[in-house]
Amino acid sequence: MQQAELIKRIKELKIKRNAVILAHYYSRPEVQDIADFVGDSLGLSQEAVRQTADVIVFCGVHFMGESAAILCPDKTVLLPEIDATCPMADMVDIEGLRREKEKHPDAVVVCYVNSSAAIKAESYICCTSANAVEVVNSLEADEVIFVPDKNLAAYVEARTDKKIIPWEGHCPTHHQILREDVLKMKEKHPEAKFIAHPECRPEVLDLADHIASTRGMIMYAKNSPAKEFIIGTECGLLHGLHKAAPEKKHYCISEFACCPSMKMVNLEKVLVSLEKVQHIVTVPYDVRIKAKEALDRMLAVKI
Ligand code: 13P
Ligand code: SF4
Repeated sequence: MQQAELIKRIKELKIKRNAVILAHYYSRPEVQDIADFVGDSLGLSQEAVRQTADVIVFCGVHFMGESAAILCPDKTVLLPEIDATCPMADMVDIEGLRREKEKHPDAVVVCYVNSSAAIKAESYICCTSANAVEVVNSLEADEVIFVPDKNLAAYVEARTDKKIIPWEGHCPTHHQILREDVLKMKEKHPEAKFIAHPECRPEVLDLADHIASTRGMIMYAKNSPAKEFIIGTECGLLHGLHKAAPEKKHYCISEFACCPSMKMVNLEKVLVSLEKVQHIVTVPYDVRIKAKEALDRMLAVKI
């Protein structure tokens, strides 16, 4: 089917199902273009809560759809691709986390939203890359078990007085970005600012002019007087950057900075998802209630 026909049918079905399409900035450009809202993980959670539609089609990875389903139990949340999972979210397991809690009885568990509903249910509060420092600093406890991203944990540790006990997880897409990649790009584009996502390694973040969530990176590029930017995150962000600041130049840090899971959702799958009302995200009641508490606590933190 031609792209124009696909888009026409998606729009028709959206009306028929009273659906809304939410997409993450790492989604394919054509998917971002048909979405009603494109955002970072925090923005997408906030937007899901604001929605009045009956159906939310979530163009992203599994934990994102799951967060929407936890926050909006009265809505049908659909994932166009059920196998689009975040490898970092799978790096933390319940038994291991419970053992860590036993080892550190005074510590509070903060989990990055890139985690399963079961891990959220086992945590006190969630955070995203946009609010991780504020979330940790909002806690009364002095010790924090931070799961699953060790790079985000190190980023937070450098910006808080609290003791951070990191988990040994990472995002494969961001973790493979090396200091040498940045130095090479800086040599090639000496005028460019290097902006990076906190899922990158600490030695990469040390070279950054600005560190932020995906939306934060877009806002910085848009509002900065600089004209060129080296982008230290997943390559999908370039689409949002070109839209927000078309007069500026944005260079992807490396051809390998691509998240295969985020690219699994395409227009065909969005259409099938709306046609067949699939794949509905479900979370067991007891897990959902506890996970919602952790997400609600996060959403109550002011940034
Ligand atoms: P943010 O969009 O919240 O910065 O997260 C990046 C990411 O890796 C999502 O999977
Ligand atoms: Fe997970 Fe990294 Fe992909 Fe985000 S970019 S979904 S953290 S693997």
